[in-house]
Amino acid sequence: METSSAPGKVFLFGEHAVVYGEPAVVCAIDRRVTVAAGTTDNTRDSIHADADTGLPVSEIRAEYDGERTILTGETDGFEYIETAVDRAREEVESDARLEIEIESELPIGAGLGSSAAVVVATVDAVTRELGVELDPERIAEIGHEVEKEVQGAASPADTFTSAVGGVTYVEPDDELRSLDTEEFSETELVVGYDGDSAPTGEMVEGVRRLREESDVAARVVESIGDLTREGVDAVKRGDIEETGDLMNLNHGLLEALGVGSSSLSRMVWAARDSGAEGAKITGAGGGGCVVAVPGDDPETVAAGTEIESERVFEVTVSDGVRRE
Ligand code: MEV
Repeated sequence: METSSAPGKVFLFGEHAVVYGEPAVVCAIDRRVTVAAGTTDNTRDSIHADADTGLPVSEIRAEYDGERTILTGETDGFEYIETAVDRAREEVESDARLEIEIESELPIGAGLGSSAAVVVATVDAVTRELGVELDPERIAEIGHEVEKEVQGAASPADTFTSAVGGVTYVEPDDELRSLDTEEFSETELVVGYDGDSAPTGEMVEGVRRLREESDVAARVVESIGDLTREGVDAVKRGDIEETGDLMNLNHGLLEALGVGSSSLSRMVWAARDSGAEGAKITGAGGGGCVVAVPGDDPETVAAGTEIESERVFEVTVSDGVRRE
């Protein structure tokens, strides 16, 4: 049995626009998904995910016999896991059957990269169980293929960040790299969660349609790219004030693209009103999480954000996929 864990993420800048080749700045966070993989003599794979975290993560029970999947319980996220197991098996040219156990500290479909984290940890655990150690960049590539297959469209941002960890700069048509930003890496971030979720694929599809129908929306997407190119320098310098200002601007542009919601806005304003330097939606939007850079007093910002949230997490930047 091999066990791996991989982190969730928040977007400092650039979600949605990154799907169209614009850059994004993304942070791996210290809330993780842990996957244990073992080979079995059974004729079927079995996958069991249990949310023993106090978070409203859906429970998934599934058995796959090579042709047919038998599901019990709720099934959010199951397709990601099944596809990741298949791709990992293909990568090492094995037809072994597997038993998979998953534990998650991340709410599903809430903007914290639960699908990328589960995919990345699954690919690592399964390939190691089958005797092959892949480097994080290869795991990220396989993870990206899985997300594209399941969602229809996906940028490499979530899977790359979950695999390599730290703060990343993702420019899909050009480069994917880790940012050397010691100062920012020690910054605490506040995440507000409204208890809601929205399927990433549907949110991405909504923005794609709007961008096709409206030149103004297309220019909003380009403007997110422009502010992200400025934001990356602020993050590298550890300039929290400028990072916060640009995050506020990014939030407004995400709302213009129709991925906001009243509860996301309330959490953003609660964070700003309690002293955050900046706050915005993280991830696909529609419901889920916001991220705030709190400046000097994370406790006060967390307490203020909590008033409008189902739950608040104080997180720091984390390492990528790792063996447990
Ligand atoms: C989802 O976490 C981020 C999006 O930009 C989609 C993607 O990058 O694949 C909305």
